[in-house]
Amino acid sequence: MERIAIYPGSFDPVTNGHMDIIKRGLALFDKIIVTILENPAKQTLFTVSERVDLLQESLKEADRIEIASYGGLLVDYAVQRNATAILRGMRAVSDFEYEFQMALMNRKLNREVQTVFLMTGLRWIFTSSSIIKEAVKFGGDIKTMVPPVVHAALKKKLNL
Ligand code: PNS
Repeated sequence: MERIAIYPGSFDPVTNGHMDIIKRGLALFDKIIVTILENPAKQTLFTVSERVDLLQESLKEADRIEIASYGGLLVDYAVQRNATAILRGMRAVSDFEYEFQMALMNRKLNREVQTVFLMTGLRWIFTSSSIIKEAVKFGGDIKTMVPPVVHAALKKKLNL
């Protein structure tokens, strides 16, 4: 049986931290569906279609990856795609409570779908899409923290 995982997130935009989780996740799963879902707590800088394009471009050389977007519940999409796992990256302790709550809610909604966490690589422990957007907005150099296509898209979007 093919082991399929959904790697869900806002990806606004995709960062090298996400890329690291995806590449390491491929050692555990036959296929990873990187899926943009709605996080009602977040206002996004990029549209869904822009985020899909950025993921597609950043991951064009990766095998066994699919990029998708979905407008409903994560566990419903996992069932729809025959995925048995949800892959998430965990950074510092500060992520724990949010991830714990989300994993337990998803488990309550569907006990067949397991959440699997990978610890973020040390290099990326301090990065997030939000803090990268803030830094770049005020002129910070974030080139090493995102794929080149994302760097260019951020500069264009923010008229820098
Ligand atoms: O990158 P993020 O913003 O931390 O990702 C959060 C996301 C998009 C994975 C989460 O908000 C989500 O799963 N949204 C879809 C709706 C859903 O199923 N929520 C979880 C159970 S309430």
